[in-house]
Amino acid sequence: RVMAVPDFSGEDGYRLWQRYDVIDAALPAATLKVVGHTETHNIIRDEFRRAFANRVGQSRGTLLVQKITPELQARFNLQADVTAQLGDEGFILKRHGNDILITAKTDIGLLYGSYHLLRLVFIQQPLDSLSVLQNPKIQRRLLNHWDDLDRHTERGYAGESIFDWHRLPLDKDQRYYDYARANASIGINGMVPINVNANALMLTPMYLQKVKALADIVRPYGIKMYLSIKFSSPQQLDGLDTSDPLDPQVQKWWKHKAAEIYQLIPDFGGFLVKANSEGQPGPGDYGRTHAEGANMLASALKPHGGVVFWRAFVYANNPAKERSLQAYDEFVPLDGKFMDNVILQVKNGPIDFQPREPFSPLFGATPETPLAMELQITQEYLGFSTHLAYLGTLFEEAMDADTHVKGPGSTVAKVVDGSLYNHKLTGIAGVANTGMQRNWTGHIFAQSNWYAFGRLAWDHTLSAKQIANEWIKQTLTVQPEAVRQVEAIMMPSREYVVEYMTPLGLHHLMDSGHHYGPGPWVDNLGRADWNPVYYHRADKQGIGLDRTASGTDAVSQYAPYWQQKFANPETTPKELLLWFHHLPWDYQLENGETLWNELVSYYYRGVDGVSDMQQRWQQVKPYIDANQFRQVEMALSIQQQEAQWWRDASVLYFQTISERPIPTGLPKPA
Ligand code: GCU
Repeated sequence: RVMAVPDFSGEDGYRLWQRYDVIDAALPAATLKVVGHTETHNIIRDEFRRAFANRVGQSRGTLLVQKITPELQARFNLQADVTAQLGDEGFILKRHGNDILITAKTDIGLLYGSYHLLRLVFIQQPLDSLSVLQNPKIQRRLLNHWDDLDRHTERGYAGESIFDWHRLPLDKDQRYYDYARANASIGINGMVPINVNANALMLTPMYLQKVKALADIVRPYGIKMYLSIKFSSPQQLDGLDTSDPLDPQVQKWWKHKAAEIYQLIPDFGGFLVKANSEGQPGPGDYGRTHAEGANMLASALKPHGGVVFWRAFVYANNPAKERSLQAYDEFVPLDGKFMDNVILQVKNGPIDFQPREPFSPLFGATPETPLAMELQITQEYLGFSTHLAYLGTLFEEAMDADTHVKGPGSTVAKVVDGSLYNHKLTGIAGVANTGMQRNWTGHIFAQSNWYAFGRLAWDHTLSAKQIANEWIKQTLTVQPEAVRQVEAIMMPSREYVVEYMTPLGLHHLMDSGHHYGPGPWVDNLGRADWNPVYYHRADKQGIGLDRTASGTDAVSQYAPYWQQKFANPETTPKELLLWFHHLPWDYQLENGETLWNELVSYYYRGVDGVSDMQQRWQQVKPYIDANQFRQVEMALSIQQQEAQWWRDASVLYFQTISERPIPTGLPKPA
């Protein structure tokens, strides 16, 4: 068991939101009593020791961490109807006199309860009348790492992958433990350590030993291992003639493979599959459906309790069908055809993690099939790890979107937590932003996106603002005015990115391949639906993609409530206007401005937002660790330059088409 606390001079961000020693807080009870001796109990002891080494509180009470018993219920006045609500991962925190109880039905529940108490202490919540019961709202809360075996991370901006396959299984790097601690502290209970663009090698005996080593490390933290698989593995690894899911030899191969995995990792979570998408093999190669492919894997996993996360991110090069329509058209007809241990993993929007998208119409459209939501924590389209963009607000918007499929209140969150259609199997995945940089995520504020993902996966009713507040206090400062300023940086930060990259519903305007800078003019890629011009459709008359009945008719995939709203530009939410409509440059907006003028002023507004963040950051300097301060200050100066680059490139390009002047009062683009 490893528990060294890295001793850094100057905070470099390695300890994420677990910087216990620098925060002015003490445990309100003097004696810690953890009843039990599993590895998880030891982790709990270590965690409190790290947090309060020399700072026990004044009271004479006891902090008791123990699984629930009738005696405890009586001693802490816990009503039977309350304790009956405890789920397997849930916990109760209860104060009685000077004593505090953390209780649960399982070791992992105790761990989650301990982390929650620590959070309350370090965000300086009064604990006088502490009485908390929590269960996670979504069952499987996973990080998806898009990491390759050679430590390259696809869409990763924080250095090499943290998973060092070359040195595993014997080299059990301290980082793995610290990674597991961080995840457990926010309730993440599953991990896929390798890329959805999978490598079949992962399923060879040699690599499975390495996966087992990782699984053994993370297990006491409540984290289960899942693997991305290559659909063509039977051919690639063992020379079968086919990987056709209906072929008995292929089915047998997967059954044996599953048994081999469970031999090593008895609590293995299951497979994540990207099939027939962006060149990956899949059941379609053999004329089979996604359901036939998923079910073949599901039956191999079923005897062992495993599940299949089958990704719905599919789109073919189909000139007749606009890209945003395709996943829905592919999967809705398959509703009811999947085994009960299959869950479809759907990206929050219908295109691909853009700074803003409407919710995917698949949410709510498959009553018989559970859907997991895939969010992207790594900032592929939001400035990598040099732009400060707090995604708590994006995740909240995605969860709270109301599909209206069963009337008002049919939110995406209710689809995902299973309550809308009574699904037991529920899940959510975040594409991770971790890497070997000392601060894990490349930008200190990018840590908040990992944090926000975990917190919202646990409880989607938390607000982005509350999560930001928690994160700031645990990571940066508890000084009230500084907390307020940093909140004022974080809360609008994602909107600034939308404004200087893709305002008013524009999307997919980034340059090719890397997806970093602006490229709205690009129209020479091999596939039409990879070209930005496909999405903005700017011409002499106007701009935007007509997705109404007169255009691609994507609006027809939404519930009637939204069909009506989206059909008309006047009732389409302004922030999605050009997602659904192609409008004349002189189209009058509600505020009296022309579309062209408004578009340009949004681009300017985004850049001003970055200046505002810079100014606020200077004001908090006295309250922030010098090293953290400098890291963010430097990143903000990059962001300033690049926001301007996005603005000027986009405005100048669109101006060549609109042939209209920059609105008066705004400086000329450089
Ligand atoms: C995006 C991303 C790819 C990724 C893909 C996916 O297109 O750019 O790198 O593989 O999404 O989610 O599968």
